[in-house]
Amino acid sequence: MAMTSMELEELPSETEYSSSATFRGFIIPMEEQGKNGDLVLEIPMAASSSNVPIKDPFVLSFNNLTYDVKVRHKSRFPFPGSNNVISPENNTKSLLNGITGEAKEGEIMAIMGPSGSGKSTLMDALANRIDKHSLKGSITMNGEPLPSGLLKVISAYVMQDDMLFPMLTVEETLMFAAEFRLPRSLSKEKKKARVQALIDQLGLRNAAKTVIGDEGHRGVSGGERRRVSIGIDIIHDPILLFLDEPTSGLDSTSAYSVIKVLQGIARSGSIVIMSIHQPSSRILGLLDTMIFLSRGKTMYCGSPENLPHFFDEFGHPCPDYGNPCEFALDFIRELEESSDGTQKLVEFNKSWQEESVKRDNKASNKPSLSLEDAIRKSISQGKLVTGATATGDDHQNLISSVPSFANPLWYEMVVLLTRMALNTRRMPEVFGLRFGMITVTAIILGTMFWQVDDSPRGIQERIGCLAISVSTIFFTCTTEAPEFIKERFIFIRETAYNAYRRSSYVLARSLISIPELIVLSLSFSLIAFPAIGLTGGISGFIFFFLTAFGTFWAGTSIVAFISGLFPDYFLAFVMSIAVVSYYLFFCGFLISRKRLPKYWLGIHYISLVKYPYEAFMQNEFRPSKCFTRGHQMFDNTPIGSLSRSVQDAMLGSMGNILGTNFTDSTCITTGTDALKLQGITELSKWKCLFVILAWGFFFRILFYLTLLFGSKNKRK
Ligand SMILES: Nc1ncnc2c1ncn2[C@@H]1O[C@H](COP(=O)(O)OP(=O)(O)O)[C@@H](O)[C@H]1O
Ligand SMILES: [Mg+2]
Repeated sequence: MAMTSMELEELPSETEYSSSATFRGFIIPMEEQGKNGDLVLEIPMAASSSNVPIKDPFVLSFNNLTYDVKVRHKSRFPFPGSNNVISPENNTKSLLNGITGEAKEGEIMAIMGPSGSGKSTLMDALANRIDKHSLKGSITMNGEPLPSGLLKVISAYVMQDDMLFPMLTVEETLMFAAEFRLPRSLSKEKKKARVQALIDQLGLRNAAKTVIGDEGHRGVSGGERRRVSIGIDIIHDPILLFLDEPTSGLDSTSAYSVIKVLQGIARSGSIVIMSIHQPSSRILGLLDTMIFLSRGKTMYCGSPENLPHFFDEFGHPCPDYGNPCEFALDFIRELEESSDGTQKLVEFNKSWQEESVKRDNKASNKPSLSLEDAIRKSISQGKLVTGATATGDDHQNLISSVPSFANPLWYEMVVLLTRMALNTRRMPEVFGLRFGMITVTAIILGTMFWQVDDSPRGIQERIGCLAISVSTIFFTCTTEAPEFIKERFIFIRETAYNAYRRSSYVLARSLISIPELIVLSLSFSLIAFPAIGLTGGISGFIFFFLTAFGTFWAGTSIVAFISGLFPDYFLAFVMSIAVVSYYLFFCGFLISRKRLPKYWLGIHYISLVKYPYEAFMQNEFRPSKCFTRGHQMFDNTPIGSLSRSVQDAMLGSMGNILGTNFTDSTCITTGTDALKLQGITELSKWKCLFVILAWGFFFRILFYLTLLFGSKNKRK
């Protein structure tokens, strides 16, 4: 089934499309074909029955694309008296200006130009990543407008940076992509076969078992990594493939092999559109159409072969030696810097393009299939493996027959959980660090507060030690921020083109953390609780453990939310620490609620530290426990240094005044009194635990919302 490089090089004829370059044989299971096999096979047959070979089943045309953005001027304060009216011309910047062109199936279209010329913007425009109210002009496929839902399903966008999990092998990475993007109805064997075919197609056979790697781990080479990135996005064999600078940062051999792979993909029945900075002459030979941009305007649009001819006619012939592309780029740069600008070339290109359209119209006929039929045909040939059935009559039906997500939510969660678990296993140091941190802190606290006693001093020590325990747990949680952010980039890439639902990610992320949090809170409780000598026996221990777990849960939730809000390692980490510190300020430990100024009360109640702190405190200071007996009440007072008999006499006379009998064993401060002193009177310990868990869920929902609204990949 694997394509050989020989096959890649030839332009396959109609028949080869269905035999070698696609995976029809195993992609559409026989039984499925039987179930809904009515149209699957009929359409291509009906189309070919006209006996006219179909040329270019897919043609993506864009006409007069124009995109302006508002530019904010630095000083826009309307000074009194000044007539500060910014004219609309001054206020907008034209990023794309009347771009016209055509990309065909089986071909690579390359968008070129100096950096800042608008290559990425044009790609975004074509890939429907620009708000349609801001983008003017038309984009059609086979003469019909492309609904955005359909475009999303038939296309893929390979971003400029490789966002991959470093500890997965090439094969695993592609296999997970297959699990996400290919429907569940496909058996594991068929998914595996697809991955193996893709590995061969991408030329990754030798690297298949190698981990991707990162700064700290040796992995595959840059070119291989880029090809893996491409592989992830083409696992379902999209019809339209966009790539933003797939060769940047690669040496010329790797760059060539990447483009060679792209040519193979195009030849298998896709339209490949990419931006490229400066192609070598070998790469130039693989390109079919080129668009040169300068400041959002087209300088040249046509085939590489016609490029020298074009400049000949313009009156600036390319030198015979060297790369014509380099010449063109240098020449455009020269024009940009000259006083006349590029206007002449823009106009010359316009007339040249119009002429060539006329020429082409004579030579070739328009695409003979409607968009819908072309897509059906493509699906029936094994492309676009998204669970589509290729049945139905109208547009709406086609869109709905190609589901937005290949798999149900639970299946996405299973795959996500498997991948997260595998990542954790491959990088035990991440969990190890957290485990070490919490264990060491528990040991330090346990030895520092070894077996605290029931005395006035013991009250202070218990309060301090419990408050520190809660904050330690929260600070341990902040170490999760970088992990959330690292994953977020991959998440954005994967969800942009519907690999899985955002909700499945949030659910899986939350679920996978639970065993980890149980281990952390259990080890903390097992060390700290007995060592400090906390109260309550087994039931006290269980509550202590549950509260520690709830605290971890709420802590990771708020850190997840913060990293969703500030997707930057440093910022998220600093913000998490700041938030936890402020929570600690207002939790009632440093100053009790009753003494807190009224205007800070709001923060006191939203302080996440308050609830676990109060739960721990109530678990510790029980009504039945006594912390000050008889003469202990004189500790830390001047009377404390007097002799025992004097203290007894004082107790006796105090008893007389109050009308009770005060002896050395009379309880002066119970647990309840200690709690009152700290202002912990409002919620029972179980209610506190409930509130902590609820906060955790609340922040998980906010985390979901940040992902939902923060990962829109569309320009205004
Ligand atoms: N939102 C924006 N506001 C103003 N200028 C922008 C905006 N987005 C992009 N640009 C500018 O548009 C030009 C084209 O950007 P881009 O398409 O990324 O260029 P390329 O990919 O060719 O390097 C650049 O000069 C860039 O600074
Ligand atoms: Mg760019």
